[in-house]
Parts: sequence; structure tokens; C-alpha cells
Amino acid sequence: MHRRLELLEEKGFCILQDYAGTMPSPSEWEGLEYMDWKSGGDTNFAPLASALGEMECHGFWEHGKSDKDGIWTKNIDACPTIKSYVESVHGRYGRVRIIKLNPSSEEEARKQIHQDDNNRLNPLDEGWVVRSWLELTDVPGTKFILRGEKDDPSTETQIPLHKGMQFVIDSERLWHVVHNVGPQPRYSLITSWESNDALEAWMRSQLPVTAGVR
Ligand SMILES: [Fe+2]
Repeated sequence: MHRRLELLEEKGFCILQDYAGTMPSPSEWEGLEYMDWKSGGDTNFAPLASALGEMECHGFWEHGKSDKDGIWTKNIDACPTIKSYVESVHGRYGRVRIIKLNPSSEEEARKQIHQDDNNRLNPLDEGWVVRSWLELTDVPGTKFILRGEKDDPSTETQIPLHKGMQFVIDSERLWHVVHNVGPQPRYSLITSWESNDALEAWMRSQLPVTAGVR
């Protein structure tokens, strides 16, 4: 069966420490080419890595691939800091994209709660695909809403978001949506990763320091 990471076993998500490096400047995401692609609300996506390196947002399965071995698109030249960030993980990435999420009411956001399709065509002897987020903007009050069961509020976790925040979610296991309170759009870097030694090592290197122990 697919390898899965112990760090995600209990909750299905893992909040890391805030990114300690230099955050990309807004020009690295505002200057990109975005596609009209609705997923989880009123969204647009800037593809940075796609199945074949084309400017498109389709699942890799449309091209006969699992969500791994993404190929940089032409957008990547405009965001060198973001490219370096992804490469610094030394992991096996698939889809890499910037999401632009426009504001909505919480009620409207909650209607968009969904599970991702990360593991289609993923060979059973390879690692389970999960996703990481790097929050690029600060929109106070904006939060990630996660649920283990779609219709069970007792399984809900709310994670307030802020610029520089890093986290990993098994987004095929958990139902999820972000509520952006606005008024400005919320931008975030989303990357699909194979669960493997490299991803685990990176996540462990980024765990919050608690009581002096990582
Ligand atoms: Fe999603």
C-alpha cells in the first residue's frame, strides 16, 4: 500500500513553523499568468508546475501521470524565490500552483468544502500524495476549515491563516475549504508532494519548537 507519513497519521494535517527565509515579494505572484479555474470558491490559479509544463490546471491523470514529477511552466521564471522554496524541500513534487481566492461569506465558503483528488494513477508501491501550503498574504480573519467527516461538525478544525505560515494537509483524506473574509484576495502557494523520506525530513526540520524540543 501507499507509504504515508506518521506526522499526518493522527489528524491528517501538520502545522509547521512559519517560513524563516525571505518571503517572495508580491511581484512574484501578482505578475503571474492566472487561469480561470474554480476550486474551493471564487478562485484563479497560476500554474507553476503542471503535468507537461503547459499553462493548465488539469489533474495529472488527464495526461496519464500521477500527481508527481511536475514540470515547470513559463510562469516560473517570474517567481525565482518561490521556485527556490519548492526546490529547497528536495522532494518529489507534482502540481505547483498559486491560488488566488476571492472573498466570500462564510456560508458561501462552506458550500465549497471538498476533498482533493491527489492519488489517481498513483502506484500502490509509491508514497501517498499530500499537499503543502505557504501563505503569501495576510488577510486577518481568514481561516482553513477542515473536517474528517463532511457533515459532522464535531470533526471540524479551524486554522487561522497568516503570511508565512506553512502546513501540510492530507487533502484527499480531509474535507477542506478556506474562508477568505476579504476585502482583498488571499494568495497561497500549493504544492503536491509524494510522501517519502525527503518530505518527512523537510517537515521534521520545519516543526515548531516546543519546550526546546523539535
Ligand atoms: Fe482542495
